[in-house]
Amino acid sequence: MYENLLEPIDLGPARIPNRIFNPPHGTTLGSEGVVTDNLIAYHEARARGGVGLIILEGMAFHPSFEFESAYLNAGRDTIIPGLKKLARGCREHGTSVFGQLFHAGRAVRYTHDGSKPLIYSPSDIPDDRYRVVPRPMPNEMVWEVIDSYAKAAVRLAEADLDGVEILASMGYLIAQFLNPATNRREDEFGGSFENRLRFLRETVTQTRKAIGQGKALGIRITLDEKTETALDPDEVIRICSALEEDDDLDYFSVIAGSSSSPGSWIHVFPPMAIPHAYVADDAARLKNAVSKPVLVAGRINQPQTASEILSDGKADMIGMARALIADPEFVNKVTQNKSDHIRACIGCNQACVGHRLTHHAISCIQNPRTGREQLFQNIQPSQSTKTVMVIGGGPGGMKAAVTAAEHGHRVVLFEQQARLGGQVNLAELLPGRAEFGGVTTNLVHELERNSVEVCLNSTVSSETINEFEPDTIIVATGAVTRLPEVEVNDVELVHAWSVIQRHKKIGQNVVIADWACDWTGLGVAHKLAQEGHHVRLLSGASIPGESIPGIVRDQWIGELQSLNVELINFARFFGAQDRTAFFQHMINGEPIICENVDTIVSCYAPQSNRGCDWLFESTGTHKRPTLIEIGDALIPRTVEEAVLDGFQAAWSLQ
Ligand SMILES: Cc1cc2nc3c(=O)[nH]c(=O)nc-3n(C[C@H](O)[C@H](O)[C@H](O)COP(=O)(O)O)c2cc1C
Ligand code: SF4
Repeated sequence: MYENLLEPIDLGPARIPNRIFNPPHGTTLGSEGVVTDNLIAYHEARARGGVGLIILEGMAFHPSFEFESAYLNAGRDTIIPGLKKLARGCREHGTSVFGQLFHAGRAVRYTHDGSKPLIYSPSDIPDDRYRVVPRPMPNEMVWEVIDSYAKAAVRLAEADLDGVEILASMGYLIAQFLNPATNRREDEFGGSFENRLRFLRETVTQTRKAIGQGKALGIRITLDEKTETALDPDEVIRICSALEEDDDLDYFSVIAGSSSSPGSWIHVFPPMAIPHAYVADDAARLKNAVSKPVLVAGRINQPQTASEILSDGKADMIGMARALIADPEFVNKVTQNKSDHIRACIGCNQACVGHRLTHHAISCIQNPRTGREQLFQNIQPSQSTKTVMVIGGGPGGMKAAVTAAEHGHRVVLFEQQARLGGQVNLAELLPGRAEFGGVTTNLVHELERNSVEVCLNSTVSSETINEFEPDTIIVATGAVTRLPEVEVNDVELVHAWSVIQRHKKIGQNVVIADWACDWTGLGVAHKLAQEGHHVRLLSGASIPGESIPGIVRDQWIGELQSLNVELINFARFFGAQDRTAFFQHMINGEPIICENVDTIVSCYAPQSNRGCDWLFESTGTHKRPTLIEIGDALIPRTVEEAVLDGFQAAWSLQ
């Protein structure tokens, strides 16, 4: 159906078998600056899944920008053997591999030993996101860095990669040189358009000279940085046109956003609140101005969207970073005309970006094998077929059921409610979070495809167990709400979940007592403020949403600010009396008093649903099944851990 996605394309000397590429993305799967077997397994899974081109994560290459040990370092020959093995492994599946060279300039906070590092940029313009004042890069160092790009590119070529990409986008070092807001230099690298372009132009020219014509060479560039101080998109197009005249480049890869402010940074990893394919029009603008292929990425998670971009002539290749993190088999499914089997990425940024930004190996809330490919090799049918009973149809229970069925077990899933999904059914009701429901949609399709017997509106009794005689019972009963043990008089105290489900009528003046500091407090504040309530969000942390990845939280805080939600931090709920809610500052112990309160919404700690504890005492059957608790039934956490637990529990049955 999407034949245009499956047409080959030439990026200079590199013939790519189809139009889908895996854009560069830090995985935290390297070690000591080199490629590990885990990283190879990660990329081989995507190559096996049919992607035409993998552009490896940004690699450091010069001592003026160093990062954590998991970060690949192309500044040393030690990078070559692992890269070679990785490229060979991917090429066996017909996939080309390029490497990306990356220098962050002033956009870095990482430290090796706890002391703040020496950071370089074209000029000493303070960075709003990292809050650093960089040292202007000395002229001789600028030339040295340019030379290092070329030398690092040679290492990538020696490792048999098919091409090299230079990151000139997202407000990092090269973009800092291009932009007069961050480049106030008075040498040959600052001032006029030609001078600001010199760093990139010299890098491209010298890199091409170093790697010759046998390897592809491209740049990644941002048309719209989404900041006040961004380079004008017309100037970016002028830059690309000037580089095209030099004839050293084989492609341009377009992306949005910048590392230079918290707001623009969100666009580097666009969350579900940002429309699909929203960079495609930027790519189209550039494509009108240049003749070389234009690549684009950014919230493209469905083949029809990708296919439309190609048929509308907006770009030549479609990048899917998170779409392939969620489903490495994406391209194979398109090829086999099974697009409805694709496990679409929902843009939650939880286990991919969330892990990356906390220096952990990336994964996916929907696909726990991501980042753990070595641990969980391909699914093999089990030697002995078991009967598996799963109690609870939230994401953890569904994942357990699907995985057990994939291993060839007979699986029956019981859900007390009329609908599968558990807490996902709450999360998707929040403003801008409808796509979260994709977790359920994807899993329901997987249950159907794997012929799992699903019993809705069903509780499990000893009779049920006698009837099915399960070998294993997976208890995935989730969590239930509880309210804090404090005195509340003359003002209504309701739990956030009932607010989301509209089970309670909410007064005009709302105080949210947010113990959890996760999506619930932020989401309920957003919902109620949008509906016209006056909302005060009192969180028990230094910032609301402290328990969720910063990039998800920050976008939400921006929304709350626009809706005039009052944010008060470090607040522990103490009780309420006569329309007044009492909190205590968690640091200095002083009272925080909120007057004129109609409703208090509690986001207090949920507790594991112990409704199936009787199973652990006696099942009443002649044969005692193995019992495994997972997800919130074990301890309340997030959908990520529920799915991981479910997957692991079912995997252990092999
Ligand atoms: C975990 C993660 C790490 C990333 N690291 C890089 C990187 O090293 N270099 C780069 O150019 N882009 C990086 N990106 C941005 C992606 O290449 C891509 O542009 C972005 O994720 C949007 O595409 P998507 O919606 O298909 O995920 C990263 C993205 C993710 C999710
Ligand atoms: S964790 Fe969320 S954003 Fe990341 S790949 Fe999975 S579904 Fe997509």
